Amino acid sequence: MATDFTEETAADAVVESFAKTADPRLRELLSSLVRHLHAFVRETEPTLAEWERAIEFLTATGQKCDDERQEFILLSDVLGISMLVETINNRKTGGATESTVLGPFHMTESPPRELGDSIDSVGTGTPCVVRGRVLSTDGTPLPGAVLDVWQASDQGFYDVQQPGVQPRGNGRGLFTADKDGAFWFRTIVPSHYPIPTDGPVGRLLLATLRHPYRPAHIHFIVTAPGHRALTTHIFVAGSRYIESDAVFAVKKSLIREFTPVDDPAEAARYGLTGSFCLANSDIILQPSAED
Ligand code: BEZ
Ligand code: FE
Repeated sequence: MATDFTEETAADAVVESFAKTADPRLRELLSSLVRHLHAFVRETEPTLAEWERAIEFLTATGQKCDDERQEFILLSDVLGISMLVETINNRKTGGATESTVLGPFHMTESPPRELGDSIDSVGTGTPCVVRGRVLSTDGTPLPGAVLDVWQASDQGFYDVQQPGVQPRGNGRGLFTADKDGAFWFRTIVPSHYPIPTDGPVGRLLLATLRHPYRPAHIHFIVTAPGHRALTTHIFVAGSRYIESDAVFAVKKSLIREFTPVDDPAEAARYGLTGSFCLANSDIILQPSAED
C-alpha cells in the first residue's frame, strides 16, 4: 500500500487494496471500475463544486426510486449502458430474435389471458392484432411457449403511471402459444411516448438538449423449456423517433409493419368490426444448450 498519495499512484494503490478479495470476478470488476473512474477524473479534472454536483445528482437518483420507479435503470438506459449490457449478453443469436431493453415498466405478474383476448381495456386508439409463432432456431415450433406482453396506452402511458386513470393490467397480458407455437392477441397500435422526465434523468436530458421520446413499441418476454428467455420489443415501422430512441434500444431486425386491413371477414376472424392493423412477428428462441 502506498504511504504517499500522488495523482500518478492513486489508482494503483486502490487496486492493490482489493488484492485479498476472495471472489476473482469481484476483484476484476472493482479494479477495472477504479482504473476507469480515476482515468476519468485525471482527464476531466472536476472542480470540487462539480464533484458535489455529481454526488447530488446520484443522491437524487436514488431518492427518486421506489417500488414502481427505478431511476437508476432509467439513467443506465439514457446512457446506453442497458443496451450495451443486454447486447453483450446476447451476442450468439444463431438466427434467434434479437433482444432489447427490459425498461422500468415490466410487472412480474401480467394478467393471464387466452389467445385472441385483448390486452386493451380502455377502448381508444386504432385496433390492432399481433400474431406470429414461437420457433426454435432450427424452425421447430415451440408449443406452450409463454409470452409476457406489455405496452403503453394510446396516450403514451403505462398503467402503473396512471393509477386511477387506467385499470391495473391495462396493456398487459400473459399468453401461452398453442400446439403449433402460434400466438395472437388484440390490442391498439401503440404510440411513441416520453420516458419519465420528472426526476434527475429528465434534468440530464434537458441540460443536454436531448428529447425524451421512445418510438412506438410492444414489449415481450418469451420463455420456452430448453430455450434462453428472450426480452425484446417489436417497433412500429415508420414511428416517430425510430431513428433517435432516447434509450438507444432500436435494432433494425425488430421493426415490424403494422399493416392496415379493411376487410370485414378478416376483422371478424379476430372478433373485430371495422378496419384494424395487423402485425406479424415470429419469435425465434435460442436453445439453452447453445450458450
Ligand atoms: C420502456 O420501453 O418501457 C422504457 C425503456 C427504457 C426507459 C423507459 C421506458
Ligand atoms: Fe416501453
